[in-house]
Amino acid sequence: MPTIKAKNIEKYYQSTDGEQVHALKDISLTVEDGEFVAIVGPSGCGKSTFLEIVAGLLPHDGGEVYLDDQLITETSREIGVVFQDASLFPWRTIKRNIAYGMELAKVPKEEQEKRLTHYIKMMNLEGFENKYPAQLSGGMKQRAGIARTLAMNPKVILMDEPFSAVDHLTRCTLQEELIKIHELEKKTILFVTHDINEAVFLADRVILLSPRPSVIQEEYQIKLPYPRHRDDEYLSKVAAMIMADISRGRKTDEDIEYFI
Ligand SMILES: Nc1ncnc2c1ncn2[C@@H]1O[C@H](COP(=O)(O)OP(=O)(O)O)[C@@H](O)[C@H]1O
Ligand SMILES: [Mg+2]
Repeated sequence: MPTIKAKNIEKYYQSTDGEQVHALKDISLTVEDGEFVAIVGPSGCGKSTFLEIVAGLLPHDGGEVYLDDQLITETSREIGVVFQDASLFPWRTIKRNIAYGMELAKVPKEEQEKRLTHYIKMMNLEGFENKYPAQLSGGMKQRAGIARTLAMNPKVILMDEPFSAVDHLTRCTLQEELIKIHELEKKTILFVTHDINEAVFLADRVILLSPRPSVIQEEYQIKLPYPRHRDDEYLSKVAAMIMADISRGRKTDEDIEYFI
């Protein structure tokens, strides 16, 4: 059974000068149970918009999104979201930040402690539980944000450029940790990035959105089992193919510069 099914999604924004911006045009995408799908596309094409619609955070102007067979009309505990900035509460310790969602969901205390131990270990945050966000590096804060989302045990994880604010090495580690989570916990993941190499390294399938009004321009199956090597020849070939397709679909020079 498909986990996420977006059907014919339309989205318009009203720009400040009163003009209508057609952001998403007839986007239909199904993400199967346990699948890892990455969305790439030029800056401003509507990647974040699409993710926020799937998360139930943003109203749209046409089409429907389903989680299994349930229409999504608002945020759901089944769908966890990770943004570029972890947005931790500065006055809560790392442990209490990670526990935040579980507290809201009234997860029993004993179960909370079990999950806290599990995800603090998985995200390599042991020894930092009682520190405050200001005492941690950007990469560690992002790991705490991911742990907070995972601790809610959502069926689906939506991620919007989650590693773009961390340094290169941390980014590589976080990517590898995410693949482990995908494999061990069989999570369904929808991941937005403008980094083509990141997309092909992580995902089972990559969706390329066109410049606005955004449609699905192309789709690529990444037929390479995990663990993958970053410099794998097949991945490089797929990445080059995606770059060529972006080049073909571009409407302005900026669309392509964004990826270089
Ligand atoms: N709140 C808003 N009001 C008006 N226009 C918006 C708003 N949010 C996004 N947009 C416009 O919609 C388009 C898609 O934005 P976004 O989804 O953030 O793109 P991406 O994440 O692919 O860079 C952009 O042109 C952006 O300027
Ligand atoms: Mg965005």
